[in-house]
Amino acid sequence: MDGVNEIRRGTLQEQTFYEQVGGEETFRRLVHRFYQGVAEDPLLRPMYPEEDLGPAEERFTLFLIQYWGGPRTYSDTRGHPRLRMRHAPFQVDRAAHDAWLRHMRDAVDELGLAEEHEEQLWRYMTYAAASMINTEG
Ligand code: HEM
Repeated sequence: MDGVNEIRRGTLQEQTFYEQVGGEETFRRLVHRFYQGVAEDPLLRPMYPEEDLGPAEERFTLFLIQYWGGPRTYSDTRGHPRLRMRHAPFQVDRAAHDAWLRHMRDAVDELGLAEEHEEQLWRYMTYAAASMINTEG
């Protein structure tokens, strides 16, 4: 029998956040729902350079998958994220930030995650969105 202070082999294998919340499918659902909001948004939609939002949806999905501990496909295809730099061509002001977060809030809500996961994801999104602001007003 194991002693009380012994940690059995295997019990410390940690799952990544990516795995804990359901892997690729969860992130695909999240970003798909988010882009449904963006597609209808009069402020955000014109900021996206491409007619088809599909490729942007794919880039963001792969980024989040990688960030949360899944496969590194984003970097393999796009290189270093450098997100502030990649957003520099777009006017990310307070209004754009608020609209972006509103659609993200809807998308996160629809995932129906466990509270601690939801809070962790939301804390990250609010922090990341604030750090992307590059235009005053
Ligand atoms: C705060 C408001 C934000 C606005 C208005 C905004 C807007 C945009 C726009 C217009 C693009 C270009 C679409 C494309 O061609 O891919 C883009 C790309 C992207 N955004 Fe944002 N964004 C915001 C915040 C964020 C945040 C918080 C994250 C990360 C958590 C993020 C992650 C990305 C990624 C990964 C890409 C694709 C980068 C690449 O080219 O590989 N964005 N964003």
